[in-house]
Amino acid sequence: MVGAGPAGLTVGSILRAAGVGCLVLETATREVVEHRPRAGVIEEWAVRGLARRGLARTLLERAQAHTECEFRFAGERYRFGYTGLTGRHHFVYPQQFLVTDLVREYADVRGGEIRFGVRDVRLHGTGSARPAVSYVCPDSGERRVVEADFVAGCDGARGVTRASLPAGRVRLARHDYGVGWLALLAEAPPSSDCVVFGMHPRGFAGHMARSPEVTRYYLQCPPGDSPENWPHERVWAELRERLGAAGAPPLAEGRLIEKRVLDMHSYVVEPMAFGRLFLAGDAAHLTAPIAAKGLNLALHDAFLLGDGLVAALTKGDDSALAGYSDACLARVWDYQEFSQWLAEMYHGTASGDPYRAGAALARLRRLFSSPAAAAEFAERYLGVRTTG
Ligand code: APR
Repeated sequence: MVGAGPAGLTVGSILRAAGVGCLVLETATREVVEHRPRAGVIEEWAVRGLARRGLARTLLERAQAHTECEFRFAGERYRFGYTGLTGRHHFVYPQQFLVTDLVREYADVRGGEIRFGVRDVRLHGTGSARPAVSYVCPDSGERRVVEADFVAGCDGARGVTRASLPAGRVRLARHDYGVGWLALLAEAPPSSDCVVFGMHPRGFAGHMARSPEVTRYYLQCPPGDSPENWPHERVWAELRERLGAAGAPPLAEGRLIEKRVLDMHSYVVEPMAFGRLFLAGDAAHLTAPIAAKGLNLALHDAFLLGDGLVAALTKGDDSALAGYSDACLARVWDYQEFSQWLAEMYHGTASGDPYRAGAALARLRRLFSSPAAAAEFAERYLGVRTTG
């Protein structure tokens, strides 16, 4: 496994549970991967998948269950109770906590090998029967070569494994949303008991609880904007304005401990495998954080890949690996399409185009006037589906 994110560590833990020998290579240190704030919303089916594989003990003790979200637009608040419609809920559990649990389970409990801080990872012979991965060892500075039956490319959006898919055999589908999001982490308790989406003529704003002490906020901004243009006062004034609505409690303000501009885009690599190299998670597909789907897709891939590798290595059954890419991509595209649909609802209001603004408002209002539209939204927001 190249990469010790949720995808690589989940694949590794599944392999270790079946007694398969494996190695995880990670460029960052253990300290960094265990403290890096990323996503934080996990869908119920994904938690069940982790639990079935003995990977959700701490999560189930510590995660918060969310049952509703709130939309704010035209100065009003609209609560949307998705659990009432689906019987399912979201788990809120910061990704770094999940990664911490997974590192411990993989390395400390299941005895999986892991090398942190490696440099210059390269893949060799991925189309052959005996692929290899080499890396520079952080202590000795020497290049080491590891031969393997399979390589799992789980090294995220900026990794190197994707480049080993032969150019003529893969397609990269990319979508740019044409907006930026200023991603913020505030040292402040959540200001609502649920996720809040604000659709405002000045731009989208989002509020997402992460823990009792830390809250994630998003502010739509021009793509390529600099975080330096967003001093503390401006951020909070803009959040207050965009998330303001009749009867809304005031925002609990706090020090901003992270401030990054995301150029909102998504991509999908197809197919997600070549020879004995299988990509999983952000290495294969990115979903802009519009619908909190990235972590869930990474886990979905990892379950399929882990189980498929175990079947191939312990039973000689390659069928799951043969169907791996198609099985992952069905859910990937479903989530991509939902993200695109939702993005228009978020950004239409501030697009400067009255036609898009009117259509976005109609899309929003329908969620609260049509039970069928509400049910469909709830199902897609929670990733409830029967296939893929
Ligand atoms: N070699 C080894 N490791 C690498 C390399 C490399 N060349 N490049 C990156 N990595 C590591 C990163 O340091 C990171 O720890 O790979 C790991 C990839 O982890 P994630 O980026 O968390 O990706 P993934 O496991 O696919 O999980 C997807 O991450 O970006 C979020 O919101 C996204 O929640 C989603 C999740």
